[in-house]
Amino acid sequence: MSQSDAIENLFEEHRVFAPADEFTAQAVAQASIYEQATQDRLGFWAEQANKLHWHKPFTKTLNWSEAPFAKWFEDGEINVAYNCLDRNVLEGRGERVAIHFEGEPGDTQTYTYSQLTEAVKRAANVLNGLGVTKGDRVAIYLPLIPEAIISMLAVARLGAIHSVVFGGFSADSLATRIQDAGAKLVITADGGYRRGKASALKPAVDEALGTNNCPSVEHVLVVKRTEQPVEWFETTDIWWHEAMAEASPEHEAQAFEAENPLFILYTSGTTGKPKGILHTTGGYLTQAAFTHRNVFDLHPETDVYWCTADVGWITGHSYVVYGPLANGATQVIYEGTPDSPHPGRWWEIIQKYGVTILYTAPTAIRSFMKLGRSIPDQFDLSSLRLLGSVGEPINPEAWMWYREVIGGNRCPIVDTWWQTETGAIMISPLPGVTHAKPGSAQVPIPGISARVVDEHGHEVDNNHGGYLTLTEPWPSMLRGIWGDPERFVDTYWSRFEGQYFAGDGAKKDADGDIWLLGRVDDVMNVSGHRLSTTELESALVAHPWVAEAAVVGARDEVTGQAIVAFVILRQDQLEAAGADADVSRVLREHVAREIGPIAKPRQILVVSELPKTRSGKIMRRLLRDVAEDRPIGDVTTLADSGVMGAIAGKLSTGAQD
Ligand code: PRX
Repeated sequence: MSQSDAIENLFEEHRVFAPADEFTAQAVAQASIYEQATQDRLGFWAEQANKLHWHKPFTKTLNWSEAPFAKWFEDGEINVAYNCLDRNVLEGRGERVAIHFEGEPGDTQTYTYSQLTEAVKRAANVLNGLGVTKGDRVAIYLPLIPEAIISMLAVARLGAIHSVVFGGFSADSLATRIQDAGAKLVITADGGYRRGKASALKPAVDEALGTNNCPSVEHVLVVKRTEQPVEWFETTDIWWHEAMAEASPEHEAQAFEAENPLFILYTSGTTGKPKGILHTTGGYLTQAAFTHRNVFDLHPETDVYWCTADVGWITGHSYVVYGPLANGATQVIYEGTPDSPHPGRWWEIIQKYGVTILYTAPTAIRSFMKLGRSIPDQFDLSSLRLLGSVGEPINPEAWMWYREVIGGNRCPIVDTWWQTETGAIMISPLPGVTHAKPGSAQVPIPGISARVVDEHGHEVDNNHGGYLTLTEPWPSMLRGIWGDPERFVDTYWSRFEGQYFAGDGAKKDADGDIWLLGRVDDVMNVSGHRLSTTELESALVAHPWVAEAAVVGARDEVTGQAIVAFVILRQDQLEAAGADADVSRVLREHVAREIGPIAKPRQILVVSELPKTRSGKIMRRLLRDVAEDRPIGDVTTLADSGVMGAIAGKLSTGAQD
């Protein structure tokens, strides 16, 4: 299906689901909230910020004088970890469960707010003992285990800056991120459990730090999770459990200014180098907590919330760690894969903990759809009352399946659009208010201004498509790109004067509701994870066999997009490697090693030429036509119009998982 067919199909979608009266009657967010935010946007955000504990109250809400570098609540002082922990205990919620941890092998741990607070205080003392103070960078490379959350909060408590690197990234990717941030400490584990096996993590850290590759790193704290053997370096390595046992459980949180950095999170852009997206404290926590409460209709006394994201992504930062804990929520975290040891594992977890709110990605929903409803139907999912979706456009069919099969036709669905850069949800229905449409994120949340604009930055009319922009600063917006302020301005603020360009295409329907249509730049979205075509191409040409590479994201039924790489090989190198070299396998493994297994191309097509314009620009649009197996579009701007025929003929020779 071509992109334009997909768009047309979307607009055949006219179903609307009103929230049930009982839901609306109890809902956290009522319709009047929109009006309140429109009448006084800054007053609205100040009111939300004041729901947090400020060691020193702020008097200024927004300073936009150096746009696009925003300062929110700048004269206030706050401690993020104190808000997520101590405050809950001091206000009488110490005995409430903060985290139900479910390990993949079936081991469990429970942390109440008191226990989590104590663990974070100890960890803060451990970190402090290793010289971590305000402004220092700490890299966290852990599986989804409680220590990941404890580490993040301990770093935040000290006013230091964490950079969480997803455990699926390779040693090379980890090293690049450690170097860019100049991290002083790395927190890792021997390994974690994935697909029924212990999967090692520490060797990747050893490799990243090897031969003084990351000279900024002074120590490596190692959590014992799988008990697999690890290489040990006496000068740097420290066992987490030993350090924690010796550390004092007393630690008083200091206040830091609202614009003190909280974390750097690397994400792919349109160039080969990942961008370190920088977030700060007061505004970030304000919007993470507000959206978590209102979009998910959180009733913290009774809800059991589960967001399936890993803390290595922004969703894990905002909706596993900071939003839920700031709101005193009880949540489930699960270490492993959805199908281990059986394909009903997620539904079993929902039944076991009585999960009421589930937040996940369309790719997961589509893979469950493929397996069929007989699997979830074996479990009692009646505790669920609200469902959320994030990471990519959700197709109406998957939305309906989610509603009917998982939500038993009773749960509102919130399709939440946002990005690593936005820090928190920006466009989403409010569950007790909005009449939901399958496949549409619909409306900016209160206090947020979004627009769909044409090439010139002018707002399009209803029933028209264009580019999604954000037109007013928001509290949890990125404050920049680590070490590269110019790139921040160029990437986000230069395409449309005075507007933040998100990189997404969108359309407004007859009611003015927003439908997201995917990226319009060279960023791919594979299973809700962002990958850059350029980054993949750089990885491929780094292999001695590859002379040139072009990568595209092709539509995929389950993962949204899948990576298809077109490569031109260096015959001399290939011959030297032997005639029966398995090019596809070798190059796919090479990419996994360079970036991480998530970046492995689905297909590698060996071609003798790439379609280029006369100025030498690769026409990815035509390659996407080939990868999606549809007629090839307009080739008139090609330098050599014959090249596409030869490439199309290659499709059948590609490797496939
Ligand atoms: O293209 C949009 C898509 O994911 C991109 C942001 O990716 P990332 O920074 O990794 O954050 C993902 C989790 C917030 C966006 O530019 N995206 C995210 N949510 C949606 C979406 N596309 C459509 N609908 C969504 N609900």
